Amino acid sequence: MDEVLRLKEFEERIESGQVIEPKQWMPDRYRKQLIRMISQHAHSEIVGMLPEGNWITRAPSLRRKMALLAKVQDEAGHGLYLYSAAETLGVERHHLIDQLLCGTAKYSSIFNYPALSWADIGVIGWFVDGAAIVNQTMLAKCSYGPYARANLRICKEESFHKKQGYEIIATLAEGTPKQKEMAQDAVNRWWFPTLMMFGPPDSDSPNSAELMKWRIKLKGNDELRQRFIDLTVPQAKAINIKLPDPQIVFNEQTGHWDYSPLNWQEFYEVISGKGPCNKERLKARKQAHENGRWVRLASEAYASKKQIDNLA
Ligand code: 3HC
Repeated sequence: MDEVLRLKEFEERIESGQVIEPKQWMPDRYRKQLIRMISQHAHSEIVGMLPEGNWITRAPSLRRKMALLAKVQDEAGHGLYLYSAAETLGVERHHLIDQLLCGTAKYSSIFNYPALSWADIGVIGWFVDGAAIVNQTMLAKCSYGPYARANLRICKEESFHKKQGYEIIATLAEGTPKQKEMAQDAVNRWWFPTLMMFGPPDSDSPNSAELMKWRIKLKGNDELRQRFIDLTVPQAKAINIKLPDPQIVFNEQTGHWDYSPLNWQEFYEVISGKGPCNKERLKARKQAHENGRWVRLASEAYASKKQIDNLA
């Protein structure tokens, strides 16, 4: 069947809401866009463990430690689901990991900010996982089967991540003045970087139009950002936490919360490697990869021994 006909048939499948599976024909651009997005998503899950992992030994109680341990473990699993989804597109996992380790692969901007206090762990759960839920709930309905199913599984665990974070902040907000101050300080530092997690304004997005044509993205960056803000403002009010934006006002016309323009220069600096923690995160990932070398060698040796035994 010629290329034009195959592309027409593919686009009809997409328009009729069909899910594309790995063995079905797909345009190269569709495959490339998915590999780009899924690999960044997977890297984000793995790098996202770093700021939280640093606080496991400093959790204020056994209950908080267990919840954080479970969350960090979940994030590792999310990374594995997503690397597996990327592999269905014909890319090797170690190739993606090499790109991350040599600094050529992106991961979410948000993980290049420091987690300075225990309250940051609460805000990461409440804001970052809250934003990820808004994004991933959409991706769970995307046109590529393995990615949609990976996001469906991820979303089931994210709600626990968000709830445990919100509970940490709600507890601190009702605590001593020092605890309330710690919670407010973390909220002040993470609010705007979280809004930038959704990507640049649609008008500046080189990928959104193509991704929406192929129903990989069902909503634009601005709509998802607004959804997150509309969900989070009432949650902050409920626990007497002030969001650090004086322009957050309910707009009766639109039915949404207005907010201040974001600092996109900071965003582009962070995603081009000049964020507060980019170097530290990459160094930690390289160290972890080095520390895991013996495990990879042992499993390869085991696998080849199994093969030899099977041949005998
Ligand atoms: N961090 C880093 N890079 C970003 C970014 C961010 N927050 N937002 C956008 N970018 C990059 C894009 O990758 C693109 O660069 P590229 O073309 O070189 O890849 C450029 O900025 C322009 O952005 P676009 O809006 O055109 O890019 P997309 O259409 O891909 O939209 C996105 C960006 C919304 C992040 C989209 O890629 C997406 O939904 N990705 C999948 C979900 C994901 O990666 N989430 C990250 C968080 S995961 C997480 O939080 C884990 C949780 O469990 C804690």
